[in-house]
Amino acid sequence: MLLDVKNLNLKFQTSKGVIHAIRDLSFNIKQGETLGIVGESGCGKSITNLALMGLLPDTADLTADKLEFEGSDLLSLKEKQWQKIRGADIAMIFQDPMTALNPCFTVGYQIEETLELHRKDLSKEERKEFVFELLDQVGIPAPRERAKSYAHELSGGMSQRVMIAQAIACNPKLLIADEPTTALDVTIQDQILKLLKDIQAKNNMAMILVTHDLGVVSENADRIQVMYAGEVIESGTSEEVIHSPKHPYTRGLLDSLPGNGDTSFRAPLSSISGMVPDLRFRPSGCQFNPRCFKSKEECSSSRPMLNQEDHQVSCFFPLSEG
Ligand SMILES: Nc1ncnc2c1ncn2[C@@H]1O[C@H](COP(=O)(O)OP(=O)(O)OP(=O)(O)O)[C@@H](O)[C@H]1O
Ligand SMILES: [Mg+2]
Repeated sequence: MLLDVKNLNLKFQTSKGVIHAIRDLSFNIKQGETLGIVGESGCGKSITNLALMGLLPDTADLTADKLEFEGSDLLSLKEKQWQKIRGADIAMIFQDPMTALNPCFTVGYQIEETLELHRKDLSKEERKEFVFELLDQVGIPAPRERAKSYAHELSGGMSQRVMIAQAIACNPKLLIADEPTTALDVTIQDQILKLLKDIQAKNNMAMILVTHDLGVVSENADRIQVMYAGEVIESGTSEEVIHSPKHPYTRGLLDSLPGNGDTSFRAPLSSISGMVPDLRFRPSGCQFNPRCFKSKEECSSSRPMLNQEDHQVSCFFPLSEG
């Protein structure tokens, strides 16, 4: 197993009280695999990724029964040790390249910096050459020219390519792509996703693909994990989750897709009523029960846990096949 997470919990101390943002999160990723993470805004996708990068703010309280990357414990790492892993073994592409790229340095310099940190085997000349190679690899024309550009001189799609070049510079084993194409228009989005797939196949790299777009995950992920209020509520192969969802919430997400998806699995339910819970005041029982059309008494009195089947669901009354 490349990444193995068991019962990860994440709390934030805030002036308004304790936010239990991630609750008993367990999942794993194998080498070369793509895990799609979906769920509404605020369900904990980004902070899960920040935890995997060792980039949580000081106010975060992280615990886990297991948080292992290639068999080594990430929980006990000191910042110095994180710096060796971050950007080298585990790299991340952020949603908005404009905030992730530094406006004061050329994009070439920023990629070179990553190489300087992690590829001590390369000379300065070799590093420079390698930057051009990387820019070329991510489909940036005239890389020697482009390397001298600043982020604001590039289009959104080009900046995103630069971020990808930086992320893959050290051939990471795990690439975390947090909404990598949300800021881009649809054609560019497809190109970027294809690029990520190509790189992945070439390097046998594992990928976490975070998106709120179920169409994107269904086409690009091997497995999908659906999150709700900081918990995994369903997880399975893309085929299973998209075509035979078991959790009423997953079904609701699929039903609320605009008319560009596969419509064969639509049910009469057209969208999910109600709101995600305030994580300071979680409902008792199933977190989704106040919004669920299948909710019964049991759902608010006890908490369903993920079952241990391949296609996992945490629901007392899961939907049946078909
Ligand atoms: N520094 C922080 N202090 C307190 N709470 C935080 C902090 N960062 C995140 N949270 C809370 O953790 C929860 C999950 O946030 P996160 O950013 O992971 O959501 P997300 O699923 O990535 O949402 P989106 O789809 O909008 O990107 C939210 O309720 C958020 O308010
Ligand atoms: Mg996010």
